[in-house]
Amino acid sequence: MDSQDPVLSDQHAPVTSHQQVPRHLAIIMDGNGRWAQRRRRPRVVGHRAGARAVNLTVDFCLQHGVEALTLFAFSSENWGRPEEEVGALMKLFLGALEREVDELHRRGVRIRFIGERVRFSDAIVKRMALAEAQTAGNGRLHLNVAASYGGQQDIAAAARALAREVAAGRLDPEHIDEKAVGAHVALADLPPPDLFIRTGGDHRVSNFLLWQLAYTELWFTETLWPDVDAGLLQQALDDYAGRERRFGLTSAQIAVEASA
Ligand code: FPP
Repeated sequence: MDSQDPVLSDQHAPVTSHQQVPRHLAIIMDGNGRWAQRRRRPRVVGHRAGARAVNLTVDFCLQHGVEALTLFAFSSENWGRPEEEVGALMKLFLGALEREVDELHRRGVRIRFIGERVRFSDAIVKRMALAEAQTAGNGRLHLNVAASYGGQQDIAAAARALAREVAAGRLDPEHIDEKAVGAHVALADLPPPDLFIRTGGDHRVSNFLLWQLAYTELWFTETLWPDVDAGLLQQALDDYAGRERRFGLTSAQIAVEASA
């Protein structure tokens, strides 16, 4: 673990601490297809425009001191989309990996991928591993890309890992609690997302980070992902800053803790 890393070195802050800027932002980038269809263009044009909005969002996070950004780029269920669209998305991912990683590295971004990467082509898997290795020492922004990811699969994988430890005699089943499960899901070394944004008008979590979103503030917008700009992201942050996060406690308890 990198002790210089602002995110990792301060994981154990009191749960009720509420900073103005979310430390960890998680986003479902929805609406690429509709954005293209409204322009009578193929869906892939929307995904390309969506990739530009990803760059803008990374810039925004770097400028505003967001420490971790987790993007839902491709769900386990997205493999079921028409072959042509899946192929176009794969081409887009590979292109982004080839073009963007050096610059992200230069800017201190650590890149990680969560999800079932064995389902991707060898070329993509290789580039993912290279990007992770090249940027592993960075800590200015953790950029986590969920690709072939599903929250239920994530929890199932954690259950399998714990079951293996029980079967090997290293773990008492009675000791399996939230902490034990939480230590085995994706991004276990990062604080959970403070703020979740979903663009595109739907009000669902869609199998994204199910475990990790337990106490995350949710923010939804009708805006389609390719139309996202810094003003919209700022709106989400402003809304977040005005919320009271109680984590199951009362307002009075939160007030006492804040003044301590
Ligand atoms: C959801 O919109 C978006 C996706 C399934 C793909 C997300 C991919 C990108 C933003 C592009 C590149 C990303 C990276 C990390 C390089 P949708 O197609 O479901 O839109 P719709 O709801 O309007 O059909």
